[in-house]
Amino acid sequence: MTPLNMPEWQSLVRHYSDLKYLSMREQFVLDSDRAEHFSLKSGDLFLDYSKNRVTKETMEKLLSLAKAVELPNWIERMFTGQEINNTEGRAVLHIALRNRSNTPIMVDGKDVMLDVNRVLAQMKDFSDKVHSGEWLGFSGKKIVDIVNIGIGGSDLGPAMICDALEPYGIEGINVHFVSNVDGTDLSTTLEKLNPETTLFVVASKTFTTQETLTNAQSARTWFLKAGQQHDVAKHFVAVSTNAKAVSEFGIDTNNMFEIWDWVGGRYSLWSAIGLPIALYVGFDNFARLLDGGHEMDNHFRTQPLEQNMPVIMGLLGVWYINFFGTQTHAIVPYDHSLSRFPSHMQQLDMESNGKVTNRQGQRLSYKTGPVIWGTPGTNGQHAYFQLIHQGTQLIPVDFVLPVNSHYPEYDHQSILLANGLAQSEALMKGKTAEEVRAELVSEGFEGKELEALLPHKVFPGNRPSNTLIFPKLTPELLGQLVALYEHKVFVQGTVWNINSFDQWGVELGKQLAKAILPDLQSNDEISVHDSSTTHLIKMIRALRN
Ligand code: F6P
Repeated sequence: MTPLNMPEWQSLVRHYSDLKYLSMREQFVLDSDRAEHFSLKSGDLFLDYSKNRVTKETMEKLLSLAKAVELPNWIERMFTGQEINNTEGRAVLHIALRNRSNTPIMVDGKDVMLDVNRVLAQMKDFSDKVHSGEWLGFSGKKIVDIVNIGIGGSDLGPAMICDALEPYGIEGINVHFVSNVDGTDLSTTLEKLNPETTLFVVASKTFTTQETLTNAQSARTWFLKAGQQHDVAKHFVAVSTNAKAVSEFGIDTNNMFEIWDWVGGRYSLWSAIGLPIALYVGFDNFARLLDGGHEMDNHFRTQPLEQNMPVIMGLLGVWYINFFGTQTHAIVPYDHSLSRFPSHMQQLDMESNGKVTNRQGQRLSYKTGPVIWGTPGTNGQHAYFQLIHQGTQLIPVDFVLPVNSHYPEYDHQSILLANGLAQSEALMKGKTAEEVRAELVSEGFEGKELEALLPHKVFPGNRPSNTLIFPKLTPELLGQLVALYEHKVFVQGTVWNINSFDQWGVELGKQLAKAILPDLQSNDEISVHDSSTTHLIKMIRALRN
């Protein structure tokens, strides 16, 4: 089933050719209430999507497409635990991890909430014990430093949340994230730490990931320079689906926090993969994060499509990717504590929707997931915004703006917000040749000098953006925000008829790395590769000291 053949898609094709030059500036003049007509709220989160190249008719057509691909049915299939991850034969239940209403969710005849609640209780108990000092290091000292060892979904999500919730951090607890197998990551982290007061959380859904196991082994070697083998239990805990591998590694399975195969790595920060979050900000704040995620889940499941924030954002993305031909999408948080938010979103979106095969295994003839990128504002303004304003590509932007800062003492917030709003206004309005001319004349330019400068100062404008505004970055709000993007990704995957919950595309590199490693570790005859790879292996052997 390809969406391309649907009458709703074809209608959008025709609509696009009528509308591709639609001027947002003119639309704002024609409809003085445009901002009200193209905005919506969910909890404390407000979305203004009026600065998009859409009319009421566009939105109606996009919503018809959503109905044609049976989006409401797919949403319900996810929430009721059906096997929508068809290539792995799994349910997709990150929503169960934050199901604060605790209604039963059945998988294979079992209510998964029993397991979810059991592990949440274990996380609370453990984090409380670490904070109270009931759980001590081997020499009787309190734990001060938490080191999460994991990669991808077992790193990025919790790392992003811990950064974002730094104002809620428990006094006396520091958190560190080691992910890269480059020894620099582990070394530069451990050189500052004391093994007597350090707790390692080895986080790996599969417990087979080369980078994580290598880092964990080296961390244990570092620890054993100070502690004894029997002290490892006080300093290493694991989060995984794989009790056997955890035990083989040497971590007591009593100190293991279970996750399940129905949690995708990039959707797992709500599970025990979030243990470093609970350790850093306390379990109550972790629970507030879950509350926020649950609030967005309720919104997504119950709101009509036209009032549904993830649906609207997802459909707008489809409009640009499949009709305007955009290839990337920038996410720019005007909040320094959300520095890692774009990276987490990058994994979430690109690992989910970077697919060229539909659910039925056929190769696609239309575009799917965009490249997601971004950094915090205002820094981005002084780096890549030039291209977004005047470059030859159309790049939709999401501006993420908290109204109030956790650090009000310096009174910078109005400047920060003014910059964010100015960027979206400038992208939409642009600056015409006439406006530039008037400006240059008022500055005293004339003649050839004015004519030479004028074209460089014109901004094409008509560049789309969404603005997400909220009162303050609380745990609840952050939960809502992350869940919003998770569901947006699902909406787009549903329109494109792809499985957003597998990630076969990461496997080939892993396989080849395993084959190359022995060639780098010995001087034996090199196994069969292409000539470029063989040549590079020879160079590495020659250069190695
Ligand atoms: O290689 C990608 C990936 O499979 C991600 O999906 C996952 O989050 C990450 O690796 C880490 O996997 P694990 O938690 O099993 O170590």
